[in-house]
Amino acid sequence: MSNSSEQELDKLVGDARTAIRTAEDLATLDAIRVQFLGKRGSITRQLKQIGTMEPSLRPRFGLAVNRAKRTLELDIERRRDQLKDAAVAEQLTQDAIDVTLPGRGSGVGGVHPITRAMQNMEDIFAHMGFETASGPELEDDFHNFEALNIPPDHPARAMHDTFYVDASTLLRTHTSPVQIRYMRAHPPPIRVIAPGRVYRCDSDVTHTPMFHQIEGLAVDRTISFADLKGVLTVFLRNFFETELKVRFRPSYFPFTEPSAEVDMSCVLCGAAGCRVCKQSGWLEVLGCGMVHPEVFRHVGLDDEANTGFAFGLGVERLAMLRYGVDDLRLFFENDLGFLRQFR
Ligand code: DAH
Repeated sequence: MSNSSEQELDKLVGDARTAIRTAEDLATLDAIRVQFLGKRGSITRQLKQIGTMEPSLRPRFGLAVNRAKRTLELDIERRRDQLKDAAVAEQLTQDAIDVTLPGRGSGVGGVHPITRAMQNMEDIFAHMGFETASGPELEDDFHNFEALNIPPDHPARAMHDTFYVDASTLLRTHTSPVQIRYMRAHPPPIRVIAPGRVYRCDSDVTHTPMFHQIEGLAVDRTISFADLKGVLTVFLRNFFETELKVRFRPSYFPFTEPSAEVDMSCVLCGAAGCRVCKQSGWLEVLGCGMVHPEVFRHVGLDDEANTGFAFGLGVERLAMLRYGVDDLRLFFENDLGFLRQFR
């Protein structure tokens, strides 16, 4: 009896140890534990069987069963640790991040060349004491024309190729209406620029239906044409970062008297003569003049006590010359190869 019991026990222990050693996960291992060491487990049953044995055999067999139990408990504990370590290792390989992989990269954008040119211009005027103002792009006839001394039958209206919304509302054709709005809201002394979009029903290689202008206005008691010349010369030399020459040619605008067109020496050929300056060495860059008394009257300012100058420039044209861009349309195509050059 004793021999056969011990043989049975040895076999049980052998089976259990094999099962424990080959358990592939913690759940299986726990099932094995229950199978052998649980309340109704086969080793536990061996313990209970002791009571039915011949008393002289009990101590020896009891010792063997308890040793077997202890062996299996240690085996299970060791296997549990192995499985836990393996699970952690597996988790680590799955979660592993290869820090040597290249990053996903976030593209760096840039300011559009027109915006950049405008910001440069604003900075230069700000250094000369000019504030920045703005006005609506949807304008009325009074601010865009009438108050600027362009009455309904004035021939200058034909040059403006206006987009009308209705009989008295339009997309502003220039930034000059901001002069009117500013003078009506602020008493002199005035030193202001007004950058912004303007619209003309005109589209070809050198014209786009929307483009940008900067308007300038200075009003005080003794503003002279010399002030105008000084401000514009300083502006152009700063913007082009070169000691270019500037000349003022008599011209006509309804809202200034006298009026002038400003030429600067060609920055592309150093005034030697090229295709862009049509071999003249000069580039026409902006319009200006002394504020017309009629304009002062329209905004309710005393045209005897006040004098002022005004100017208007095209941002695209100056940006093209500054950055050496030979086609106006490049500014509006949003070609990344083009835009990236300005980052
Ligand atoms: N408004 C004019 C245009 O769009 C530009 C201009 C010329 C503005 C002379 C002025 C100025 O203020 O004095 O063509």
